[in-house]
Amino acid sequence: MEVIIFRDAASVADKGAELVEEMLRAKPDAVFGFATGTTPIELYRRLIERYRSGSLSFQRTRSFNLDEYLGLDASSPNSYRSFMDREFFDHVDIRKENTHVPGCGSGENPGQVGPRYESLIREAGGIDLQVLGIGHNGHVGFNEPSSSLRSRTRVKTLTRKTLEDNSRLFKSGEFQPRLAITMGIATIMDARRILLLATGEHKADAVARAVEGPVTAMCPASILQMHEFTTVLLDEAAAARLKHREYYDLAHGENEALKDRFGAFYART
Ligand code: F6R
Repeated sequence: MEVIIFRDAASVADKGAELVEEMLRAKPDAVFGFATGTTPIELYRRLIERYRSGSLSFQRTRSFNLDEYLGLDASSPNSYRSFMDREFFDHVDIRKENTHVPGCGSGENPGQVGPRYESLIREAGGIDLQVLGIGHNGHVGFNEPSSSLRSRTRVKTLTRKTLEDNSRLFKSGEFQPRLAITMGIATIMDARRILLLATGEHKADAVARAVEGPVTAMCPASILQMHEFTTVLLDEAAAARLKHREYYDLAHGENEALKDRFGAFYART
């Protein structure tokens, strides 16, 4: 796990965009895993800017989002499909039919959505780069604490904490789903590269548990310690409770020097 700490959230988004662009240069038909939430919005803005300036194209890419609420129509402004269209897909050249969100139509059996989503990911050749945020409680996707570390895409019940955290996005009196369909932890772990972004002091505790705590289902993000190629991009505030900061800075400096000499790592593999 590489941990890179930046001055502020803007620099985290810049670095995220740089790494996505590197992936696209190495593999123009890369398969992306995308996240919703507040954290990646700035990253998506940077990618839109880079697309508009002609430095990258998503035309040949495919994407799979981490999660979707169960019980909300895709057309609802609060659905994650709407979020992705609004914040990203509508502004770049990705083909909509190549973007996937694990939604469940009304009348459809939600138990069948997960296996189908897993097959689609497999048929696409797997995810090359998965973007992740992290919840206060250490969740990734909607894999709440106690989620099986070998889970696959399925229905999950959201914790009270997650419902509270996300209630800011719903108007008062508006229906807020308590269930979601989320990629599982094993699904996420199958991605060839993972970028976890976290910004703000309110994420410091979850980040410390994920990066330096024991690997435990009670902090689902901690499983990333067992992933071969995860990069954690943090601002100072989100990194505030890390104990091994000095080492992360040192290693980052060395890795950048290697990259300057030999090029981006996945360009070589
Ligand atoms: C969203 C998702 C969640 C969020 C997490 C952090 O698709 O999978 O795990 O990444 O809840 O959300 P924000 O960025 O709003 O703090």
